[in-house]
Amino acid sequence: MRNSGGLLLTPPEKERFIPDPSFKLDAFRRKKIWGNLNPLVIEIGSGQGEEVEWAASRFKNLDFLALEVFPQGVAHTVRRLKARGIENAKILQADASRFFSSNLLPDSVFEVWSFFPDPWPKTKHHKRRLISEDFAPLVASALVRGGHWRIATDDADYALQIHEVLDAFPELENVGSIAVELPLTHFGKGNRDLQASAPKGKFFQAERFEDRTLTSFEKKGIEAGRRIYDFDYRKI
Ligand SMILES: C[S@@+](CC[C@H](N)C(=O)[O-])C[C@H]1O[C@@H](n2cnc3c(N)ncnc32)[C@H](O)[C@@H]1O
Repeated sequence: MRNSGGLLLTPPEKERFIPDPSFKLDAFRRKKIWGNLNPLVIEIGSGQGEEVEWAASRFKNLDFLALEVFPQGVAHTVRRLKARGIENAKILQADASRFFSSNLLPDSVFEVWSFFPDPWPKTKHHKRRLISEDFAPLVASALVRGGHWRIATDDADYALQIHEVLDAFPELENVGSIAVELPLTHFGKGNRDLQASAPKGKFFQAERFEDRTLTSFEKKGIEAGRRIYDFDYRKI
């Protein structure tokens, strides 16, 4: 992964979504890319780059790495960061699950942000959701002790999945304190209308993260009447 003097990082091989597994984002690389060893925040699925622009322009004492697979989103984010002269945020076109499984050192990431990960609403696609039993240990390993994984979704079924996976995960602690009721059964796109009458369980979620800006994606969800669920998990 190279920083060719700009904001877009170049993975060290042809297949851009899958960075070379031998590459490690160690202190040497971080100094070369960001010019310092400030705490690193990784945003997964940065979309159009609204959040990374907002946060990086405010927190100059943090370094940001945005991971995004969608090429137009990557291009848009680079333009956005360039226009604002933001240099503490970089973007890499890479699949987050591959990147977390191979390219990060343990205890090296200050915070991980996953805001509105793709919900995959059809039941047969639920297994494609990023926040899963396979992905949680990778994030937990990458985080520094006390580091936070902040998540938001507007999909109640994904919210249930997040609780099922992360509340049970021993290395992470749910620091949310707002009691929320969610249906205890999973529903797909075809039978969502049954959600309202399903038995509910009580879970704890977080306040809206104050450094999460309102993206156009979230705005559309709110306009469509969807409720937003916020999560804050801390590495123990
Ligand atoms: C629903 S959008 C939300 C975008 C943005 N976070 C927001 O709030 O506006 C989800 C984004 O995650 C990206 N994405 C999905 N799977 C990904 C993965 N495995 N690694 C990196 N990005 C991913 C998608 O391309 C898309 O841009």
